Amino acid sequence: MLSVEVAGLKLENPVALASGILGSKKSSLVEIAKFAGAVVTKSVGIEKREGYKNPCVINQKCGVINAVGLASPGAKVFSEELKEISIKKPLIVSLFAPNPENFALLVDYFPFASAFELNLSCPHAKKLGMSIGVDEKAVESCVKAVKDATDKPVFAKLTPNVTDITKIGLAAEKGGADAVVAVNTLKAISIDIYSKKAVLSNIVGGISGKAIKSIALRCVWDLYEVLDIPIIGCGGISNWIDVLEFIMAGASFVQIGSAFYNSLRTIEGIVKSLEDYLYSKNERVKDLIGVAHGGV
Ligand SMILES: Cc1cc2nc3c(=O)[nH]c(=O)nc-3n(C[C@H](O)[C@H](O)[C@H](O)COP(=O)(O)O)c2cc1C
Repeated sequence: MLSVEVAGLKLENPVALASGILGSKKSSLVEIAKFAGAVVTKSVGIEKREGYKNPCVINQKCGVINAVGLASPGAKVFSEELKEISIKKPLIVSLFAPNPENFALLVDYFPFASAFELNLSCPHAKKLGMSIGVDEKAVESCVKAVKDATDKPVFAKLTPNVTDITKIGLAAEKGGADAVVAVNTLKAISIDIYSKKAVLSNIVGGISGKAIKSIALRCVWDLYEVLDIPIIGCGGISNWIDVLEFIMAGASFVQIGSAFYNSLRTIEGIVKSLEDYLYSKNERVKDLIGVAHGGV
């Protein structure tokens, strides 16, 4: 009822942990993996990166604005940490790099990965993430470089900070991506009226959480209309109804991030409610993917 398969990856339910949420804390990954269909790691680059100074995460009523700046311990150290973790769910390793060559070099550090997710969408790290992800040619060549370097499934995580996300999705598909992830955060800022200054040390960050759900849903919808490869939905999902909306819009499974700030058990509750609903309707997730496109 709940199981889905994407690019040969079997998920026992369609709800995964999104990249970067809760940092790279091992105990949180293990806890969440008990209930999630899959787990995506924090994005990692070849070299260690400090990220930005505090404040780098702001909690707002409608969501979270972050400019962590792709802080990362570097591929070697992160790989040592991750290989200690024993989880029985697909482990998707998220990668960032400034160019196709460096993306390709990263895969060898993670022989235990079930799949790779390319972060082509972080909105606040200069010359990384979204700087690449807004350029169709760059997206195509980064995906192609990683596909040439591994037999594992490769997912391209897209930015919503473009006029037409379908062009970027098509470029990822042309590069050989096995699926796209839609979406990363939207560029945002916050001002402190007392200091009369921007709150984040980097000034600009990316907003996630409930504020972006309808935008992310529209991105999934638009991509489903043009792509042949599967879409993984992400952005503002906080309950089982959101999950079903994304699936009906065209997502094969979803990732959840900011909702974890409310509770580490978020996925457990969502999966249980989803199961109850599907059971009551005698329906399967895989039969609901994209059904909303049938016309109004
Ligand atoms: C604090 C924080 C750190 C994040 N770090 C990453 C990251 O390292 N790599 C990445 O691809 N996305 C990262 N994201 C984006 C999330 O994976 C996700 O795409 C986004 O938050 C939208 O989903 P949500 O609304 O469910 O949080 C981060 C988000 C937050 C809030």
